[in-house]
Amino acid sequence: MEKINILLLGSGGRESALAWKMSQSPLLNKLYIAPGNGGTGAYGENIALSPLDFPAIEKWVGENAIDMIVVGNEDPLVAGIYDYFEDKNILVVGPSKAGAALEGSKDFAKQFMVKNNIPTARYQSFTAETIEDGYKFLEQLQAPYVLKADGLAAGKGVLILPTIEEAKASLKEMLSGMFGASSATVVIEEFLSGIECSVFVLSDGNGGYRVLPVAKDYKRIGEGDTGLNTGGMGAVSPVPFADEVFMEKVRTRIIEPTINGLINDNITYRGFIFLGLINVGGEPMVIEYNVRMGDPETEAVMLRIDSDLVALMKAAAQGNLGDTELKEDPRTAVTVMIVSGGYPGSYPKGKVITGYENVTDSILFHAGTKINEAGELVTSGGRVISVSSYGKDIANALANSYASIEKVDFEGKYFRRDIGKDLMK
Ligand code: AMP
Ligand code: GLY
Repeated sequence: MEKINILLLGSGGRESALAWKMSQSPLLNKLYIAPGNGGTGAYGENIALSPLDFPAIEKWVGENAIDMIVVGNEDPLVAGIYDYFEDKNILVVGPSKAGAALEGSKDFAKQFMVKNNIPTARYQSFTAETIEDGYKFLEQLQAPYVLKADGLAAGKGVLILPTIEEAKASLKEMLSGMFGASSATVVIEEFLSGIECSVFVLSDGNGGYRVLPVAKDYKRIGEGDTGLNTGGMGAVSPVPFADEVFMEKVRTRIIEPTINGLINDNITYRGFIFLGLINVGGEPMVIEYNVRMGDPETEAVMLRIDSDLVALMKAAAQGNLGDTELKEDPRTAVTVMIVSGGYPGSYPKGKVITGYENVTDSILFHAGTKINEAGELVTSGGRVISVSSYGKDIANALANSYASIEKVDFEGKYFRRDIGKDLMK
């Protein structure tokens, strides 16, 4: 068994969880994280490299005998990191640039779904030239109205408007540059009503795939799913409604048509496909594709993988998952995100974090943390630390995370106390 050196790109809670899981692999020799955060040094070595500076990464991986690059976030994928390294004798876990367009362009993703008969909301796309048609399309729909910037907008590009007047005004603003070039094209779609869940699929690009444990995330800042959207405030896995009957529909109607559609279009995809699904009366429909793992879903999902993640990723990147095992841990896992007061608006940074060393019954996945010049652990982002725990059920796992959260402190600390409540009814 030949051990490998891995470079993981990213700096969030997702990358902490991936690093934690990879660091347990007997296949791993050395793990580097670029740029990493205040906690990732526990699993490997942080390297000051930008995930978007491909020439600098190329030089560094050559000098450090890296065998595989794992891409945590979407930006390098949409910018074409897979294609950049394709003929450079190094494995990359992630889709080609063409595959990354499933996240990089909502219009492309919708066309792909229609072409492959994948259930999704009815839609049309508009530009400044066709704004009048956009108004007419809005008039055919019922409130609320869903408007999506075509390109990447740091998770902020989706607007849901309660009235036709607001929808028309927002369409005009978006097409006039509200999200810069990202909203030069706007997708308008039918509003779907149901509970969402996140399904992650590891694809080897040759028809082989594995479905990871399913999770549900909590996007809004406020309890009861109120207030502004965030990167995610917590996650739970498994999701009770994603039972065998539901998942069989997901496999046959969504996962397999997606994998086959990519192959038919000659799009290389050796990495994670994130299906943002909504359960509409028992029928799964796709809200969005992402081309990476979810954050904070990963901070729960990694706890539920009872197999070697490095073996799985390596086999996928080599294009042959074969019979590489993915066993699920039967326990429930949850994660609750501790954020900086003020997030997702503006918030202070540099607040000293205390008490984390007393946490014994949960796993802390650092996100927006760093070690300052005095050697203290301080906040450096909106989402600060994700507190993940196992339990025999959702209530039990949550009790563990909430008890651990009491021990961690910094000025302005905030978290939602209702993660998973909707699934316990
Ligand atoms: P997205 O960035 O595409 O994940 O959209 C952000 C959030 O907007 C989703 O997680 C959903 O909660 C919501 N959303 C997006 N599209 C729809 C839709 N067609 N119907 C209802 N809610 C939607
Ligand atoms: N938790 C949703 C995302 O990662 O986009």
